[in-house]
Amino acid sequence: MYVLGIETSCDETGVAIYHSQKGLCSHLLHSQVDMHSEYGGVVPELASRDHIRKLAPLIKQCLKQSELTRQDIGGVAYTAGPGLMGALLAGAATARSLAWAWQVPAVAVHHMEGHLLAPMLEDNAPAFPFIALLISGGHTLLVEVEKIGCYRLLGESLDDAAGEAFDKTAKMLGLGYPGGPRLAELAEQGCARFKFPRPMTDRPGLDFSFSGLKTYTMNTLFATAQNARDKADIAYAFQTSVAETLSIKCRRALQQTGMKRLVIAGGVSANTRIREALQKMAQQERAQVFFPRLEFCTDNGAMIAYAGCQRLLAGQHQDAEIFARPRWPLAELPGI
Ligand code: KG4
Ligand code: ZN
Repeated sequence: MYVLGIETSCDETGVAIYHSQKGLCSHLLHSQVDMHSEYGGVVPELASRDHIRKLAPLIKQCLKQSELTRQDIGGVAYTAGPGLMGALLAGAATARSLAWAWQVPAVAVHHMEGHLLAPMLEDNAPAFPFIALLISGGHTLLVEVEKIGCYRLLGESLDDAAGEAFDKTAKMLGLGYPGGPRLAELAEQGCARFKFPRPMTDRPGLDFSFSGLKTYTMNTLFATAQNARDKADIAYAFQTSVAETLSIKCRRALQQTGMKRLVIAGGVSANTRIREALQKMAQQERAQVFFPRLEFCTDNGAMIAYAGCQRLLAGQHQDAEIFARPRWPLAELPGI
């Protein structure tokens, strides 16, 4: 079965076609970064309008690249949440309408489940069960994954998500939007001059908190001359602190559950130093670590097509409704 996947939860329009046996056929992404950068962050109304503009041409192009026609498509998967309401509605309405017109089922996909399953698109896909660390702009979640849809939340951020902390710190350092990759780039020029705290690692538990780290960063910045050297060293200290904090919590999750497989996904998992730190920790724990390829760490249509395909194969789909849920706990999903 060929499944068309549509991702529009935030500032990227992602479209892909996945086949249940052949795998990924094609995937396309339109990033809205240039449009939003003028405003220093995502403008929700502009995001929704741009998704509407880009979706139909991207879908057509995706079909063409896969050498398929609409008659070949057996189901449509779309991100139904969590995310920006207007942006979600743009994708949900398009997906639902196409499914109606093509007389195929439509399935609502949870964005974080999409991220969680993104490593399944790789040749060395992880087997179930595993621990997943999901680090994106809106969420930081540690999840015990028994199988698709069976998720036990082990820990989450009590305030800012990891990506949000990167973005806010980048803004503080004058790096603009999108902050995460720019901060990572600046950190490469920095060195180990400051030692930042590793929040919530001195007490038991698997929750995270990154807002204190942001304040610590701000105070450190104000205590310097704020020149290029200072900023690079601060970016380095911040990134190191996040990488080590994530490693400490993942090590704890592996030890507590006895699991030997760890999946890292979501936009922040594109960060080279964080990938290195987690890989090193996993090696010490004699565990295997799985990442999506870089382009599937951040938002994309492929992960939605994959997740939707698995649910459709299990006989799950939505009725003829446009389903969008800006807030949607992962643990509410049904198993397959
Ligand atoms: O998963 P994603 O594309 O969208 C959400 O679901 O939120 O994640 C976006 C987040 C942003 O906060 C962005 O700054 C961060 O991922 N990010 C990074 C890097 N690339 C993207 N953070 C740190 N280092 C990176 N290389
Ligand atoms: Zn995402």
